[in-house]
Amino acid sequence: MEKQITTYIHHFTADQPIWLLLLSSLGFLIILKKFISFLKWVFNNFLRTPKDLKTYGSWALITGSTDGIGKAFAYQLAQKGLNLILVSRNSHKLKTVSTEIQAMFPDTKIKKIKLDFSGNVTSGLRLIEEAVRDVDLGVLINNVGITYPAAMFFHEVDEKVWMDIVRVNLEGTSNVTRAVLPGMIERKRGAVVNIGSGASIVVPSHPLYAIYAATKAYVDQLSRCLYVEYKQFGIDVQCQVPLYVATKMASRVAATEESSFFIPSACDYGRAAVRQIGFEPRCSPYWTHSIQWFFAGFLPEPLLNAWRFSIGIRRRENSS
Ligand SMILES: NC(=O)c1ccc[n+]([C@@H]2O[C@H](COP(=O)([O-])OP(=O)(O)OC[C@H]3O[C@@H](n4cnc5c(N)ncnc54)[C@H](OP(=O)(O)O)[C@@H]3O)[C@@H](O)[C@H]2O)c1
Ligand SMILES: *[C@@H]1O[C@H](CO)[C@@H](O)[C@H](O)[C@H]1NC(C)=O
Ligand SMILES: *[C@@H]1O[C@H](CO)[C@@H](O)[C@H](O)[C@H]1NC(C)=O
Repeated sequence: MEKQITTYIHHFTADQPIWLLLLSSLGFLIILKKFISFLKWVFNNFLRTPKDLKTYGSWALITGSTDGIGKAFAYQLAQKGLNLILVSRNSHKLKTVSTEIQAMFPDTKIKKIKLDFSGNVTSGLRLIEEAVRDVDLGVLINNVGITYPAAMFFHEVDEKVWMDIVRVNLEGTSNVTRAVLPGMIERKRGAVVNIGSGASIVVPSHPLYAIYAATKAYVDQLSRCLYVEYKQFGIDVQCQVPLYVATKMASRVAATEESSFFIPSACDYGRAAVRQIGFEPRCSPYWTHSIQWFFAGFLPEPLLNAWRFSIGIRRRENSS
């Protein structure tokens, strides 16, 4: 029997031209590689035990925490037993969210900081520095982010609008990160989560939302560099990459606030997102998002560009 097989293999290999053998081995390796990444995807999304976030410290700070994804993070982190520092621009909404969370999780301590990242940030940033000085801050969620009021060409965007996007998405994220890092370095532990966007990572371009996509590319690159810089201090930096999530923002950019198979509710998204904290430097936490990301990788760039451009144009026409 063994001899038979050996002879068979010998025959098979001897009969084939060498290029065919090389080609089929190559094909086999590629399929194997895809299969292994599929298994890894299943493990990371559904099987892996999430990190115990309390080992990073007993407090979490979340920016833009009065709506959408940020609010969902706040609920999830309170449920995991963390105390919260909520940062947002509207004191009334801050109060409402904190009261709701307190009612659900009575043991959670909550600090509220009113800070408008597009306004005068001097005193707000000082409040953040003070607030994090006396607590064991383990988790930072840089969630705050804004986009265009409607799709438009770059030259049509009001200077105030695009400067605000740069200030909120790019300066705000950098400044808050800087404010919390010294304490995390001292304690030798921490997790920093920056919210990127599929607009700058999953698709090659996001026409008619150029400034927004560009600030998110900055967030992605910042995260991946900081991941390497701060690993040695026990700090896990990560860029999470959502595609559409049914929030106030999506009602503008995706023309829907309804959740669906590919557009999770903020709550479902938040639940998936906290499970991924502390692992890979870049991930798309919600499973139907990562499926879309995977398949986008097979499409040619010009096709994706044309598709996004046509969507942008349609949004622009609908809004004017
Ligand atoms: N939703 C999506 O489809 C999607 C897709 C990809 C990436 N993202 C990213 O996910 C993050 C959260 O988005 P979201 O959809 O949850 O947005 P959202 O529903 O518009 O919520 C944004 C939060 O940030 C606060 N905020 C806005 N401008 C602020 C400012 N100048 N200063 C301080 N706080 C401010 C808002 O406060 P108020 O409550 O006062 O408005 C709100 O709490 C953003 O970084 C966004 O770019 C979202
Ligand atoms: C910002 O606020 C601080 C005090 O909170 C003040 O000293 C400073 O002058 C303000 N800056 C601007 C540009 O208004
Ligand atoms: C970020 O920090 C710089 C330097 O302190 C400051 O000039 C800028 O206004 C800050 N911007 C935001 C949005 O926090």
